[in-house]
Amino acid sequence: MTAALLSIDRLSGGFLGADGGIAPVLDAVSYDLMPGQLTAVVGETGSGKSLTALSVLGIQPPAFRRTGGRILFGGRDLLSLDAAAMRTIRGARISIVFQDARAAMNPVFTVGRQMADVFRLHHGGSARHAMDRAIEALGRVRIPEPERRARQYPHEFSGGMAQRAMIALAALICQPSLLILDEPTTGLDVTIQADIMTLIVELCRDQGLTACLITHDLGVVAETCDAVVVMHAGRVVETGSTEQIFTAPAEPYTRRLLAASQLGEPV
Ligand SMILES: Nc1ncnc2c1ncn2[C@@H]1O[C@H](COP(=O)(O)OP(=O)(O)O)[C@@H](O)[C@H]1O
Ligand SMILES: [Mg+2]
Repeated sequence: MTAALLSIDRLSGGFLGADGGIAPVLDAVSYDLMPGQLTAVVGETGSGKSLTALSVLGIQPPAFRRTGGRILFGGRDLLSLDAAAMRTIRGARISIVFQDARAAMNPVFTVGRQMADVFRLHHGGSARHAMDRAIEALGRVRIPEPERRARQYPHEFSGGMAQRAMIALAALICQPSLLILDEPTTGLDVTIQADIMTLIVELCRDQGLTACLITHDLGVVAETCDAVVVMHAGRVVETGSTEQIFTAPAEPYTRRLLAASQLGEPV
């Protein structure tokens, strides 16, 4: 048996209410990310997919309170690390791509500068070398004229181009062992969603990255992912290989989800 790269083990928690009580949101969420695999996390909005992913990086909203569970990464419980130890993991070992890349970038620095700064933070070297790596990374995510683009500011990028730059930053500049993508194509023009998804899958495969892809697009999941985690109402309903989940889902909720997306066996 191969060991999981990341193991979420019975993670529970909720939001602190005005009355001082905790309204539960995550209920003993457990799933494993196996090395080199692309694992999809699916389930309707509000099921706890993002909160679980943010908890891995220690960037959950301040009102969120964990009430139990562990997140094991390389044998260590991430939830027990202090802020300094967590900073050495975030970005360098585990990086994340969010939905709105332009909002995640700093508006006052050029895209190339931001990428170069992150490169130097993780790998050191000269500013010139870091900028060359940034330009190279922009080229690898198929941004035309990467040298010119690197000198532009985030607002000069379209949503799709910004998302490509974010993917370049998270996957190629940070060179993490684990990449989390939280609905990376949501909000983009449908015509470019498929291109970006293809790019993500190619990069993950080329770099041998372990990836966790949170998405609504079950068509993409069926075609590209190795394993699937189905979440509903703060719980993991079912996990399995992509083939298992799509051809022989065990749980009624999974069958309904597949039926709603018109994929998988009819219920
Ligand atoms: N900052 C917050 N304050 C209070 N409740 C929140 C906050 N963020 C998320 N929630 C609640 O936590 C639940 C899970 O949210 P989330 O993990 O974002 O779901 P998903 O990513 O699956 O759509 C939802 O019911 C949501 O309303
Ligand atoms: Mg979400």
